[in-house]
Amino acid sequence: MSAKKNIPQVNLVFTNHVALELDRAVELIAPSSVHVLVDVNTEAFVLPLLQAQSKAVASASVIRVKAGEMFKNLDSLTSIWRQLGDGEANRNSLLINLGGGVVTDMGSFAAATFKRGIRFINVPTTLLCAVDACVGGKTGINFNGLKNEIGMFRDADLAIISTLYFNTLTSQELLSGYAEMIKHALVSSMEQTSRILSYDVTSYNPDSLLALLEESVGVKQKYVVADHEDRGARRALNFGHTIGHAFESLALERKSPLAHGYAVAFGMVGALVLSRMKLGFPSEILQTYVDYVRHHYGAFEISCDDYKKLIGYMHHDKKNDRPGLVNFALLKSPGEVEINVPVTDDDITAALDIYRDMLGLP
Ligand code: GLY
Repeated sequence: MSAKKNIPQVNLVFTNHVALELDRAVELIAPSSVHVLVDVNTEAFVLPLLQAQSKAVASASVIRVKAGEMFKNLDSLTSIWRQLGDGEANRNSLLINLGGGVVTDMGSFAAATFKRGIRFINVPTTLLCAVDACVGGKTGINFNGLKNEIGMFRDADLAIISTLYFNTLTSQELLSGYAEMIKHALVSSMEQTSRILSYDVTSYNPDSLLALLEESVGVKQKYVVADHEDRGARRALNFGHTIGHAFESLALERKSPLAHGYAVAFGMVGALVLSRMKLGFPSEILQTYVDYVRHHYGAFEISCDDYKKLIGYMHHDKKNDRPGLVNFALLKSPGEVEINVPVTDDDITAALDIYRDMLGLP
């Protein structure tokens, strides 16, 4: 028996003519029924626009879930399955996930499991979702207090990526998504890094942002194609996330949540400091990045009293496999990534000291 290789679908369209693309895709798929999943935000701000422009969406049944990470759970999932059933969806039906990462992660999982799998199209409405969540086949829900604890890999039949709906996003939401674009640039090349760090995402220009977004998602796709199930090369996309997730957890404990992209932006400062210490990452590029972060994102405040807790969170990362060491994805230079670099608690302590110095924290 030959081993079955999981080959991801690479079905992405970058366009600001979303309704046109959507109707074209629905005509090709020719589903028996169309269902569109929204949360309260996309129902209010995006659905009416698409209903006015797209024949497929105008006649689709609307499935609603509550908005926000805290509703990415089994109750919402059950509700989607129930609404699909009530709307008489069958194996030839199509689900359109219209929203941010919570909607696309959960809607994709619902579609992948309903009647053993129906087709689905992701239409991301946030920059964070467009650049990351809607591409790469990771689907799922939070469970038992753990993020993305239950889920599976299943690619969308199509992701229609546009910048059309970002005009309703705050500067903070744009910057949050942009941190993942900076990450893609850093793991890709010096040229892309320079382009990204000289662009002002908060000025919101839909056309120039769409071009940058296409280049950025292209970087992710390369890793997804190489390692769909995240067992090796794809871990490069974890750059900045080991410290970033620890910051996110600390912020949650302080009852003052930190937006994911902000946590990644600050986490990448720590990861670049470690990259400098362990792999000789160029200091001038580190300084350019830190200046960018200080200017646009500010700083996540930590003191040495937080180190023990932060290092504890880092040890819980599921990518660790050596006792006493934390595995990091680090950079030798922009575009030269090393995954599974073992780092000691002393290294992390030194990096957090430098993080505070560089960001001007007491
Ligand atoms: N967000 C990183 C990945 O999809 O692998």
